[in-house]
Amino acid sequence: MLDIKVTLSQNLKQKPADESALGFGRIFTDHMFLMDYEQGVGWNNARIVPYADFALDPAAMVLHYGQAIFEGTKCYRRADGGLQLFRPQANLARMTRSAERMGMPALDEETALEGLKQLVRIEEAWVPHLDGTSLYIRPTMISMDVGLGVHASKKYLFYIILSPVGAYYKEGLKPVSIYVEDAYVRAVRGGVGFTKCAGNYAASILAGDVAEKKGFSQVLWLDGVEQKYVEEVGSMNMMFAYGNKIVTPKLNGSILPGITRDSVLTLARSMGYEAEEERLDINEIFADAKSGKLTEAFGTGTAAVISPVGTLAMKDEKITIGDGGIGKVAQSLYDTLTGIQYGRLEDKFGWIIKL
Ligand code: COI
Repeated sequence: MLDIKVTLSQNLKQKPADESALGFGRIFTDHMFLMDYEQGVGWNNARIVPYADFALDPAAMVLHYGQAIFEGTKCYRRADGGLQLFRPQANLARMTRSAERMGMPALDEETALEGLKQLVRIEEAWVPHLDGTSLYIRPTMISMDVGLGVHASKKYLFYIILSPVGAYYKEGLKPVSIYVEDAYVRAVRGGVGFTKCAGNYAASILAGDVAEKKGFSQVLWLDGVEQKYVEEVGSMNMMFAYGNKIVTPKLNGSILPGITRDSVLTLARSMGYEAEEERLDINEIFADAKSGKLTEAFGTGTAAVISPVGTLAMKDEKITIGDGGIGKVAQSLYDTLTGIQYGRLEDKFGWIIKL
């Protein structure tokens, strides 16, 4: 593990006074963690420094060819005031898998985890107290070589920034409405859909904006080959409940292997639900929602937590799922997951790191 040099800010920012108005990812804390990579040298110069702008050469490769990957994890405040992280090692391991696919170096996960913990401890006072709020942790890796030849960069920057957040969707825990995307696709077979690369999100913005103008919160992406099978929502993986049976799209290389997705599947099984990973035909889901056989739909993600989907729309048809509110399954999973994350419930899975 690398030594981490700490330089504290002499100019601390004002913390948000109203924690109920945090929103998502709008405010950043006083410090950040950085480390550099150079081919032949490896990861080096691990440091915590005051949060500040980067100086980037306009020809830096990340700005042209998009070697950029990121992660999202959170620090939660318990009722006794203590802090805890939820499975951050899983995020850092996923970053290494994203890096491999993007021709980027494997992360020094041990130093990154230590940097993350030290940074959060320094920023302790930024972890909000209000129910449902947390400190969002955004690890990021970008290519830093200067030049326009298309090849893997030899230099990279890894950094972590922190943001006190509330709910990701403006609806909070209220059900969101989702449009089944029929014009564009998010990911293709053999592509980068399973990675958390910036390009996946760039590719989703146009469809998201069009859907938002029509009054929907997000789009549901279908597979890129037949545009028939459910993939994910971009900001969350999708799950559907048929009574006590939960189904979610099977990982196929074009769906993000969500850490919340994995946690919810484990929790669901431990709570006595049947939980299966399957290939899900959107036409069947839609027909089942119409007939009432499908009782709930919800998304899972670090930012989104568990977000019930109240309305699903495809082409010109719009259907209400269940009674349009949060269902029993989603509510019980939300209560159990957040119970563990906020330290109200025992963690039987070894997911929590207390700080
Ligand atoms: C997360 O849930 O942490 C994500 O990275 C999704 C993001 C688009 C907000």
